[in-house]
Amino acid sequence: MHDNNEILVLPGDGIGAEVVPVAVEVMKQVAKRFGVAVSFSEALVGGVAIDQTGSPLPEETLTKALSARALLLGAVGGPAWDELPTLERPERGLLGLRSGLSLFANLRPALLFAPLAEASSLKPELVAGLDILIVRELTGGIYFGEPRGVEMRNNERCGFNTYVYAEHEIERIARVAFELAQKRGHRLCSVDKANVLEVTQLWREVVTSVAPDYPDVALSHMYVDNAGMQLVREPKQFDVMVTGNMFGDILSDVAAMLTGSLGMLPSASLAADGRGLYEPVHGTAPDIAGQDKANPLATILSVAMMFRYSLDAPDAADAIEQAVDRVLESGFRTGDIVGRGILAGQTLIGTRAMGEQVLAQIDQLESAS
Ligand code: IPM
Ligand code: MG
Repeated sequence: MHDNNEILVLPGDGIGAEVVPVAVEVMKQVAKRFGVAVSFSEALVGGVAIDQTGSPLPEETLTKALSARALLLGAVGGPAWDELPTLERPERGLLGLRSGLSLFANLRPALLFAPLAEASSLKPELVAGLDILIVRELTGGIYFGEPRGVEMRNNERCGFNTYVYAEHEIERIARVAFELAQKRGHRLCSVDKANVLEVTQLWREVVTSVAPDYPDVALSHMYVDNAGMQLVREPKQFDVMVTGNMFGDILSDVAAMLTGSLGMLPSASLAADGRGLYEPVHGTAPDIAGQDKANPLATILSVAMMFRYSLDAPDAADAIEQAVDRVLESGFRTGDIVGRGILAGQTLIGTRAMGEQVLAQIDQLESAS
């Protein structure tokens, strides 16, 4: 374990500013309980950073981020900044952190908490027990490929981006995915569009070439259109899925919704040395921002991932996940996870009250052990 785990807190915009403080409280309590030394500092990213400094990723934020062990981020973006050019938008702050810290491996679990089966848009039997992990390549592909832009060609504007992957980028994300599959259900599905795109033909070739190093993992390949369809048809066929940046962006939203709400899904973005950025999969939700309605559980579960992957404290991670499960079991719901309406035994609560319920459950776990 590291002596001083410097955690950089980046609330960002919209509901990010509401859910992050709640998750930080949970983190403090759990760190104390499990003897994990942490210290916190805070910085600006996204729209608030544009408003206060003119840049979505101020130099000071990047400097602080580079020396932190882990980052806890809320969300960035919102209607106030929608008219800005692509390269000046709040989203660039997030993309700049991902590339600036080489956070190439994005882990997005889609795990169904049993009490929420009725909140899914799919039939409960299709999603009961669902536990998928999407491993998304995060610092390459079409998000970062050059050349990119909009320019005049033959008297009209043409927009273009470049979908490019080097072998080493594919190999390192494939190895992360194989290793995670070894710790789970031993099945890995690599998603590509190898029937059309050369870059993903190489993807398939490289993923296949490392497979012999993981003889206990069954590797399969699927085209992305089929994968989207299979995720809503029979999601439990998947264990770990690995894919590039853009396909992973899309499929992870689909997988997330299977669980009933984007408000439940955490994510980790990891560098080779275990440093990481942890954030909920959901966005800034401008429609409910500032109303104490947002679900803080995705951010709280992101803190659990932080304990597991960057702070080497799996017990602390388990405790948080167990506490969340018990809170849901007790019937507490934020608006996004009430399903088709409040059922008997359920209580609709807000962001802060949900945080208090989690803290109370952690207290009880403490006294039970
Ligand atoms: C995500 C988001 C981001 C992405 C945006 C905000 C840039 O959709 O983390 O999935 O596309 O990666
Ligand atoms: Mg996305």
